[in-house]
Amino acid sequence: MLNVSLTLDTEDLAQHYEAISVERQFKSGKNLIALLAPASGEQVLDVGAGTGLLAEYVATLVGPQGTVLGIDPLPLRIALAKRKARANLSFDVADAHDLSTLNADQFDLVYLNAVFHWLDDKKLALRQIFRVLKPGGRLGLATGSKDHAGLLRGIRAKLHNEPPFDHYPQALKGRAGWVSAEELETLFSETGFETKTIDVQPNVQIQPSAEAAIEFSQASSFGNFLGNLPEEFRAVARGRIKEELEKLRTPVGIRSETARIVAVAVKPV
Ligand SMILES: C[S@@+](CC[C@H](N)C(=O)[O-])C[C@H]1O[C@@H](n2cnc3c(N)ncnc32)[C@H](O)[C@@H]1O
Repeated sequence: MLNVSLTLDTEDLAQHYEAISVERQFKSGKNLIALLAPASGEQVLDVGAGTGLLAEYVATLVGPQGTVLGIDPLPLRIALAKRKARANLSFDVADAHDLSTLNADQFDLVYLNAVFHWLDDKKLALRQIFRVLKPGGRLGLATGSKDHAGLLRGIRAKLHNEPPFDHYPQALKGRAGWVSAEELETLFSETGFETKTIDVQPNVQIQPSAEAAIEFSQASSFGNFLGNLPEEFRAVARGRIKEELEKLRTPVGIRSETARIVAVAVKPV
């Protein structure tokens, strides 16, 4: 169990995510989309679409004959996404583990950008995606690499192993949730996909301050970064993480080096 909660999101976190993801997840998402090369007229599913920035971009690529459906289990994020809806772009609240409302063989392309590490049952989700893809349809995903833990992940993990914080189950504890390139390839083959490419790409993140780094993680994790702790411990934990991060601040900011797995697979014809 990854202990991911889908009930810790707030309007502030959703709005903050919309603002900060422009320079981060949206930019890297565009690289994933370039690899997948959506063609005019294609039917696309964005799984874990968040506030819909990337889906909105893909809708311009598939044009009026194509469609993009963005789904996400967080109603507050989908509410922001729905403001971007138009004739060929729609959004719904739905979970990657249950795509039963969608038809089999419906999509030419399904992608997950910065979502895969949050999925508790990755095989189940991949099987659901396999079902809704047309034969020959592509699956693309970009996710953090298990083998390259970031600065913040390490600091948080250390804190969560100390009393009193260790009494509360943490989301994505240790390396749980993240996969390695090899594990992803195995998951693809076990769920019927044919792997096309799996790349591990360096991902350098620079945050201007400890506060900004924590806010980024809280918004990107829809409250899970510190959300496992009771209210009275959250401020203490935040203070401790801030202290550790500030020690690492350089004139350019707080630098964290991780890596991202970018993968493309297809449903065989
Ligand atoms: C870091 S955000 C990425 C959002 C968007 N894909 C983007 O590129 O900005 C992670 C997203 O994964 C979604 N997510 C978490 N668990 C999920 C699940 N079980 N099914 C689908 N999406 C999920 C969250 O709701 C959140 O919007």
